[in-house]
Amino acid sequence: MRLLTRKISARLSARRRSRFAAPAVLIVGLLASGGLYAALAPANADNSTDDAATIAKGRALFAVSCSSCHGLNAEGILTEKGGNYGPSLIGVGAAAVDFQVGTGRMPMAQPGSQAARKRPVFNDDEVAALAAYVASLGPGPAIPTKAETDTSDLSNEEMVQGGEFFRTNCTACHNFAGKGGALPKGKQAPPLTGVSAKHLIEAMLTGPQQMPVFSDGVLSMKDKREIVAYLKKNEDSPDYGGFSLGGIGPVSEGMFAWLVGIGGLVGAGIWITSQTARIKKKGNAA
Ligand code: HEC
Ligand code: HEC
Repeated sequence: MRLLTRKISARLSARRRSRFAAPAVLIVGLLASGGLYAALAPANADNSTDDAATIAKGRALFAVSCSSCHGLNAEGILTEKGGNYGPSLIGVGAAAVDFQVGTGRMPMAQPGSQAARKRPVFNDDEVAALAAYVASLGPGPAIPTKAETDTSDLSNEEMVQGGEFFRTNCTACHNFAGKGGALPKGKQAPPLTGVSAKHLIEAMLTGPQQMPVFSDGVLSMKDKREIVAYLKKNEDSPDYGGFSLGGIGPVSEGMFAWLVGIGGLVGAGIWITSQTARIKKKGNAA
């Protein structure tokens, strides 16, 4: 009897060993390697100072308001034709989110058309959380600091220099007075009046839609600030009086010159020739 129980218990323990030993070893191994990884893994490569709670809040907002077009992990969604329903946002940086959401362009109402400036849907904290979340996905341009958006330290010469930069880089699309202009395919470059310094710099850093990115190699942060100073100065200065022709640039002013100037000359020419013709006729009759 004793022998029998000993035999049974020996067999039981052997079976137990075979049944549970492997999973137990596996679990211990996983725990050990996980622990080792946690201890030895390099610190997060992203050097942003955004805390985990802000990023988590941004991720939650993103899932509700943005993921339908940009994908649950901001990886972008392709349409059936291969175009973008919403592009990937990995690496666009906090500046792009702050610009797009801060100017009310995003969340876009419907895919397809150019996202227009409108009243922002999110408050400042929510925009900051969304920006922190997207920034955590990959390095990209950061939101300009207070010191970068404040242009009061720039001299008059620097502001004039900004005007030069503006005329070289921006007027092709935004018009020489910054009043905006039409682009091919029904798109438009918006007017630059009433745009905050922060959004001006962010637009240059991130190049929304057809606008090129003006990286620091093209226009340094100081150059960008000089452009901002120039545009803000223009905004403050009153009209110089007289008839402004709408101030919308060469088209309206060219039209004015054409109709009133050349049109007047043509009218005078016709009048003069009609006078000579009549004189001739009179001469013939005489
Ligand atoms: C209805 C679809 C749609 C929704 C919803 C939407 N987006 Fe977009 N988003 C787009 C499209 C399309 C573009 C590209 C065209 C453009 O820039 O206007 C874009 C562009 C962007 C860009 C610019 C990317 C770049 O390369 O600079 C950012 C940033 C962005 N979206 C953020 C967001 C955030 C944040 C939300 C949520 C609050 C959001 N979007 C919601 C469709 C959408
Ligand atoms: C190739 C044409 C092009 C050039 C050059 C260009 N832009 Fe733009 N810009 C655009 C377009 C198109 C948009 C509208 C993007 C959108 O709505 O998503 C835009 C938008 C902007 C906005 C956003 C305005 C708003 O209403 O929120 C700012 C600010 C801006 N541009 C500044 C500049 C500055 C400063 C320069 C020169 C350094 C410049 N742009 C050069 C085409 C251009």
